[in-house]
Amino acid sequence: MQVSPPQFSYLRGLLKKKTGVIIDDSKQYLLVARLLPIVRQRKLPSLDTLIDRIQTASGSPLENDVLNAMMTHETSFFRDKTPFETLKRIIPEFVRKRAATKQLTIWSAACSTGQEPYSIAILLNEHFSDLLASWKIRIVSTDISNVVLDRGREGIYSELEIVRGLPQPLLNK
Ligand SMILES: C[S@@+](CC[C@H](N)C(=O)[O-])C[C@H]1O[C@@H](n2cnc3c(N)ncnc32)[C@H](O)[C@@H]1O
Repeated sequence: MQVSPPQFSYLRGLLKKKTGVIIDDSKQYLLVARLLPIVRQRKLPSLDTLIDRIQTASGSPLENDVLNAMMTHETSFFRDKTPFETLKRIIPEFVRKRAATKQLTIWSAACSTGQEPYSIAILLNEHFSDLLASWKIRIVSTDISNVVLDRGREGIYSELEIVRGLPQPLLNK
């Protein structure tokens, strides 16, 4: 199955409008691979039917499923070193600035299935547990996809996934 150029353009436009995510022309095959399970699951006759339906059902659960399928929810514990190194470096400054209230809120925007906020919690516990002992810490986690948020709320991860992501010093404990 294939998507026609107008269909691809519609889907790409929908994704950009609803999420801000941009996919390029080379991703047509990926789109088909991701949408076919929805076609099968909903027992629709074709991909065309799926696209026709979402075109007339803005904001519907079906549109939501399609948007979810088109997005990449890739994540892992301590994915990308730099943001975590930066967070570790700037925490003391925030602690100084908020010493009067002893409250700190960290927002994991686009948190996917939760590995990022849990990594932040691990980092704080590992490096700042004394400094933040009497503090109220909130790690707020949001994502446009309810599917990934539900998984993050469960907080269940495979051992392999955890070990792969953890920084070296934690593994050597
Ligand atoms: C590649 S993941 C990033 C995951 C995590 N931040 C990390 O680095 O491990 C991208 C996530 O962004 C979410 N997302 C995409 N557009 C969004 C938007 N406009 N608002 C909130 N979340 C969005 C997706 O649902 C997906 O779970």
